[in-house]
Amino acid sequence: MDNRPQWGTRAGFVLAAMGSAIGLGNIWRFPAVAYDNGGGAFLIPYLFALLTAGIPLLILEFTIGHKYRGSAPLSFARMNKKYEWLGWWQVAISFVISTYYAVIIAWAISYSIFSFNLSWGSNPEAFLVNDYLKAAAPGEFGSLVPSVLIPLVIVWIITLGVLFKGIKKGIEIANKIFIPALVIIFSIIVIRALTLEGANIGLNAFFKPDWEALSNGQVWVAAYGQIFFSLSICFAIMVTYSSYLPKKSDITNNAFITAFGNSGFELLAGIGVFSVLGFMALQQGVGVDEVVKGGIALAFMVFPQIINEFPAFPQFFGFLFFASLVLAGLTSLISIVETFVAGIQDKFKISRNRAVAYGGGLSAVISLAFATQGGLNLLDVADYFINQFGIALAGLVEIVIIVWILKQLKPLQEHANLSSDIKLKGLIGNWWTISLSVVTPLVLGYMMFDLFRTNIAEVYGAADGYTRAFVVQYGVSLAVAALVIGILFSFIKWKKGDLDIPGAISKEDDK
Ligand code: ALA
Repeated sequence: MDNRPQWGTRAGFVLAAMGSAIGLGNIWRFPAVAYDNGGGAFLIPYLFALLTAGIPLLILEFTIGHKYRGSAPLSFARMNKKYEWLGWWQVAISFVISTYYAVIIAWAISYSIFSFNLSWGSNPEAFLVNDYLKAAAPGEFGSLVPSVLIPLVIVWIITLGVLFKGIKKGIEIANKIFIPALVIIFSIIVIRALTLEGANIGLNAFFKPDWEALSNGQVWVAAYGQIFFSLSICFAIMVTYSSYLPKKSDITNNAFITAFGNSGFELLAGIGVFSVLGFMALQQGVGVDEVVKGGIALAFMVFPQIINEFPAFPQFFGFLFFASLVLAGLTSLISIVETFVAGIQDKFKISRNRAVAYGGGLSAVISLAFATQGGLNLLDVADYFINQFGIALAGLVEIVIIVWILKQLKPLQEHANLSSDIKLKGLIGNWWTISLSVVTPLVLGYMMFDLFRTNIAEVYGAADGYTRAFVVQYGVSLAVAALVIGILFSFIKWKKGDLDIPGAISKEDDK
């Protein structure tokens, strides 16, 4: 008897998958990555990566979760016992991400409150680094920063609170509230941004293609990296979420809806962010390239400055912007933590409450490291290495194992076709197969080669004062630890019958 919990409705599942995909990556990562990599020309590699890797992998992961009905380790173990470690590796990557992702949401909570009186003053950069984070030099921890610790506790209370409630009553309901709220808030911001003076300057910078960038391998690497992180693929999330789908569920159409919803939101964020950057460039009489910054800096340094210059209701728009980061971040964090909650529950046969308390509790404790004075640098280096040598590498390994070693593409294709609206047949079937078996492994293989080469030749963040020792200690070691922990966990034995697939779906069910 399969007593796995299930989503209550199809919309509930799709909203949860979209909630996972739409996150900090869409709002602070995408616009800056796009700008750094050729502006409008980036959209071509981005769409290519979406169509040849993002959507095919999302369909693949939805199918795996639905067919094997388990967390990532259990699903991979059911596919073939030898490859359970791949599931644990991805779960470990999620665990690392959860520890710092929570801290960025905590900053956003603080900043939504700071918006009420624009506490960051006229120099937001100095405010963030010196007054708020009290940042120490790379490699130094310093003490815990109370102004980060308090919102961090709130983030964990909300996240674990939702997870304690379970799939239908917790995750599904949270996403049904948070995602529509996010879309409304974000639309208000984008409409306001588009009507600011100078918006067209920013949009020109964003959309103006730099065709030369297309011949640069790094641009393609960036596009794939963005798609993986943004779509929440290859770090155990989508396999876990789809394992809660009822037996007769659509797979392919849900994947298309999730992916296009995520990319739509991403483009909207790009349009909104660049409109306000254009506004700021006009105010300061400089080019957009002088005001644009990536990642953390964009959200917590450039945005407060823009909000300062807003013609009307700066406090209100500041609050909306940071509140949208909080909402987008929370729905993603919930999905990230669910990967190891489900993994522990499946393997150790403990109650959901215990799994949330142990798994979520451990992540919460470790996240304190990022709430220290050294947190900013730690976070930056952890994020870089776990993305590039975690998610992207795990993605490549996942494809090679499933497609080339286990030759599972055909059976998975048949499974997806059993109950999906859009069948992987004819042209669509060929697109899916060729993307996964040829295009994506080639591009990802090249990407990893290039990444290893670059990181051996140069020290990541050298310009910010990072040394090789610091990067190895807090970046490389995390990426390696995720893999080692993954392998170690797979040595723990399953109980008898655990690896049987409950209620396997057959052709008969499609009638
Ligand atoms: N997909 C999530 C994001 O974009 C993790 O932030």
